[in-house]
Amino acid sequence: MKNVLIIGSTGQIGSELTMKLRREYPAGNIVAGYIPGAEPKGELLESGPAEVVDITNAQMIADTVRKYKIDTIYNLAALLSAVAEARPQLAWKIGVGGLYNTLEVARENGCAVFTPSSIGSFGETTPHNPTPQDTIQRPDTIYGVTKVTGELLSDYYAKRFGVDTRSVRFPGLISYTTLPGGGTTDYAVEIYYSAVKGETFRCPIKPGTFMDMMYMPDALRAAVEIMEADPSRLKHRNSFNIASMSFDPEIIYNKIKEYVPDFKMEYDLDPLRQHIADSWPDRLDDTCAREEWDWKPEYDLDSMTRDMLQNLHKKLHVPELAV
Ligand code: SER
Repeated sequence: MKNVLIIGSTGQIGSELTMKLRREYPAGNIVAGYIPGAEPKGELLESGPAEVVDITNAQMIADTVRKYKIDTIYNLAALLSAVAEARPQLAWKIGVGGLYNTLEVARENGCAVFTPSSIGSFGETTPHNPTPQDTIQRPDTIYGVTKVTGELLSDYYAKRFGVDTRSVRFPGLISYTTLPGGGTTDYAVEIYYSAVKGETFRCPIKPGTFMDMMYMPDALRAAVEIMEADPSRLKHRNSFNIASMSFDPEIIYNKIKEYVPDFKMEYDLDPLRQHIADSWPDRLDDTCAREEWDWKPEYDLDSMTRDMLQNLHKKLHVPELAV
């Protein structure tokens, strides 16, 4: 990785991945691609180059790739699962049409491509605990359909055209920086905001619903390490299961209560999100990622909770708790 384009650089993952890459590589080589209406601000704007790159416009991607001699593209443009159900045509246009544009530009310009897949690429008929690396993928959400299509199309471009495509299946991602936009796992981020603000959390997912989750620093490290992995060791490409923790709403609530004893939670179920969550795995088996590129998470629920609470206290200017 020398010259990198991040498409979707102002989103939940992109905003943090862009800054991580600018700290670890020459910042001027890391180009933040964004769409009008989601312009980079502050540190993200000031720390390196930025260009308008709409993933549905292949020419825009190609022009930026040539201008900056890009060799690696992080394709992070997507609608999350619940929002995608409200706008399925747009989800396909961005998730699949956008990926096709990216892969074609990569094929013509010799770029490597990272496109995240997700726990959402699995469905009801997938074994849920544990979910193997290679298994049934029959999701019934448009988000999942675009993710499975993306995995297959990326592998096709690798085999047929030699495009260096690689990917991981992200769990629900938890961070204090940029809020997720309309996913099924968002509750596990919002619960921390409620705890720090002293509000009662209204949980949209019912107790006993387990899903894989991951703290953002581990997810960002996975996105970089998979692109830097020795290709001769990779038996899989699109896409690797990665995992670090699995919990239901009661477990995360009780963990937060260890540090915020007065914290209260009520259930206020969202049928769409519950239906999606029920169809997703309880726990991914990430043995292949561990064996093929030495994947290993650093955070568990306790260390993530302490870090989230400390940082949200600073961000929201709430007097600090002893966590
Ligand atoms: N976090 C995503 C969602 O909930 C899953 O990949 O949509």
